[in-house]
Parts: sequence; C-alpha cells; structure tokens
Amino acid sequence: MSDSDKNEGLESYKKSMLSGLDSKASETDAQLSDGELDVSPLFEPLRVGSATLPNRVVMAPMTRNMSPGGVPDDKVAAYYRRRAAGGTGLILTEGTYVPDPAAGFSPNVPRIHGEEALEGWRQVVQGVHDEGGCIFPQLWHVGLMPLPTDDFDPQDAISPSGYLRRDEKIGREARGDEIERAIEAFGAAARSAMDLGCDGIQIHGAHGYLIDQFFWDVTNRRNDAFGGNSLVERSRVAVAIVEACRAATAPDFPISFRLSQWKQQDFGARLAPTPQDLERFLTPLADAGVDIFDCSTRRFWEPEFEDSDMNLAGWAKKLTGKVTSTVGSITLSTDLFSGYVEGAETAIGNLGRLVDMFGRGDFDLVSIGRASIADPEWANKVREGKLNKINGFDVQVLQQTELY
Ligand SMILES: Cc1cc2nc3c(=O)[nH]c(=O)nc-3n(C[C@H](O)[C@H](O)[C@H](O)COP(=O)(O)O)c2cc1C
Repeated sequence: MSDSDKNEGLESYKKSMLSGLDSKASETDAQLSDGELDVSPLFEPLRVGSATLPNRVVMAPMTRNMSPGGVPDDKVAAYYRRRAAGGTGLILTEGTYVPDPAAGFSPNVPRIHGEEALEGWRQVVQGVHDEGGCIFPQLWHVGLMPLPTDDFDPQDAISPSGYLRRDEKIGREARGDEIERAIEAFGAAARSAMDLGCDGIQIHGAHGYLIDQFFWDVTNRRNDAFGGNSLVERSRVAVAIVEACRAATAPDFPISFRLSQWKQQDFGARLAPTPQDLERFLTPLADAGVDIFDCSTRRFWEPEFEDSDMNLAGWAKKLTGKVTSTVGSITLSTDLFSGYVEGAETAIGNLGRLVDMFGRGDFDLVSIGRASIADPEWANKVREGKLNKINGFDVQVLQQTELY
C-alpha cells in the first residue's frame, strides 16, 4: 500500500469523526442546588463475583497515550490513584493492548504484557487498592482502525474483511490462525490481570474496534466460522474471547464486556435495532461468562427503542438479568465527540434524571468519562452534595498537561 493510500484512509477516518458531530445538549438540564438530591443509592456497595465494589461510581476507560514504550509509569499510577482517592469505586483503565503483535500501533498506549509493562501495572493496581478502590484493566485490540497517532500499514492490521466502512476497503481479511491468536491474546491478558491482583477485567467490544468489526455486517463479510448473516453468527469471536478469559481466570473473576451500537466509523450504526435482536445478541455472551454489560452510549438519557424510555443499559439488564453500567454525558452539557472538540460545561442538572433511572433499577453502575478527567474528586463531591463545586471539562487539559 502506498503512502498516499494510507493517508487517505487516515483522512477519511478523521472526516468521519468530525461529520458525526452534533452538539445536542442535555434535554434534562434543570438547575439543582447543593444537597437537593438524594444520591445515597449511588454509594451502596455491590458484589460482583469475587469483587465487592465500594460504590456504584465507575471511571470510564479513557485512552491517554502517556505510557512511552507501552509501559505505565509513576504518573499513570498517580493519575488512577487520585481518582480512587476521590471516591470512585471502580476504575476502568484506558484500553491496554493484549499480547498480539497486531493489537495496536501507538507507541504510547500501555501494553498488558511483558515484564516491564506488567510491573508498571502492578504499581497502578497497588495505588488504587491503597485508596480503597477496585480496578479492571480494559483489554483492547484495535483491529483495523487507523487512529490519528498511529503510523502503520493497514496490511499489518487484522480485521474480518479489510473494510473500514461500507465502501472503503483498506486492509485484508485475517487468516483463521490470526483470529485464533487474537482470541488467545485476550485469555492471556485476562490471566495476567488476575495475577496482578486486578479485581476483574473489561473486554473492549465497542466503538468499531476488532471485536465490534466482527459484530458489524459492514466490516464482517466472511462466510466461514467467524462470519455469517446473523449477528449471533458474527458474535462467535466475541463469545470465544469471553470463554478464553473465563477459562484463563476463575469462575468468579468478574468479566465486564463493553458494547455499543455506534461505531467511530458510523455514529448511526445499530447492531440490534429491536429488543428481540438485543436479547439474541447478548444471551450467548452472558452464557459464555460476562458478568457486567457496560453499555456505551453518548447521552445516557436517550431511549434505546421506541415505546419505552429505557436506555441501552436498562434493556441489557432487563433482557439478561446481568449487572449493567450506563455512561454518556453524566453531569456534562455536550456529548463525547462535540465535547471532545469544544470542551463541555458542567451540567449537574442531568444527575437528577440519572438518580431516577438508577432508582427504578435500570442499571447498577454509572460510568463517568470526561467529568472524571476534569475532576478527580467527582465522586466525593457528589456524595457530599457539593454539586456546584464540580469542575467542567476542558479539552485543553488532554493536550497541555502530563498529569491531570
Ligand atoms: C480522551 C478519551 C479517551 C477515551 N478512550 C476510550 C477507551 O480507551 N476505551 C473506551 O472504551 N472508551 C474510551 N472513551 C470513551 C469513554 O469511555 C466514555 O464512554 C465517553 O467519554 C462518554 O462518557 P462521558 O460523556 O462521561 O465523557 C474515551 C473518551 C475520551 C474522552
């Protein structure tokens, strides 16, 4: 592949990120005064398998690109430690590459293999535990996804069929042995996480990366055992990954699975257009050993299907009976992609809606993304009713500061 072809792939990826932007603000923005809301249910512990999470507040997984050579250093440990000290019950780490040469191509994304990187993670885990928090690393394989910081030949990437999106083929179909190798890499990473003392793992099955590339019919056009016409058939790689993680760990070691309908390549994509499709999709994953479904949405208050105001996490809980987690613009005025470009104001008003949905049992955990970058003390401030003291998210922080 020529350099210009590579650049075109990257440019079109960037374009697609920008074309999806909309700045729909929270429709649930009401003014709240300090102490007005009963947030205590968010601070009840929760037992999941062998882990007892001290409360329901989760830090969402967020890539930092600050681990040179793939090794998390003292600053990475300090970054996570301060969120645990700030009252967050469960830290989901940034995506960390599983032991497969094609797992990812950014030199500053942490790996979860190799002595040095594992030693780095050991410090991270220790720091979070010292503050009373739990920690799951997010196990990541990017598949075919040219990210802005990467420099790679798409032929080196593995993907179901070489497609980035519907009319854009930039890579190649992975061989069966390469897919088997990727499945095993997740199992090996899960084992390392358990040996490090992590409280569980999260498998990154969302946002258009490898596992999601298998789910999506646009990117998975295979007719062999790794593809097929139905979503259930295209889920076989994910099911094998969950089984590999379960087999490599313990029957009660918590496994969280992150999924999303939307893809970075297409915000409007929907894997499961109806509740029946969602049930058919999630049941084999639950049977394979998933304990927690982390349902990634950009705005938590948006209903997933017609005729109900439940969101994706609500439906996943109702259909599988598993623990579920919600995410998306909690206490923020704009969603992930518009807020990522422009920054996002604090919008504590939507916390009232969150507490209502939590209270009626829609989901068990609430994940805080950009707001937890902006404010390591987010959880303690919410618990203590200091809502008006929460810091807003400024995108500059990500570019200008090494430790935030
Ligand atoms: C800087 C940044 C990096 C992210 N990296 C990841 C990642 O590595 N894995 C992942 O599953 N989601 C990632 N996300 C998505 C977040 O986990 C979260 O779902 C999203 O930001 C929505 O939550 P929020 O509206 O509270 O920010 C990232 C988001 C941001 C802002």
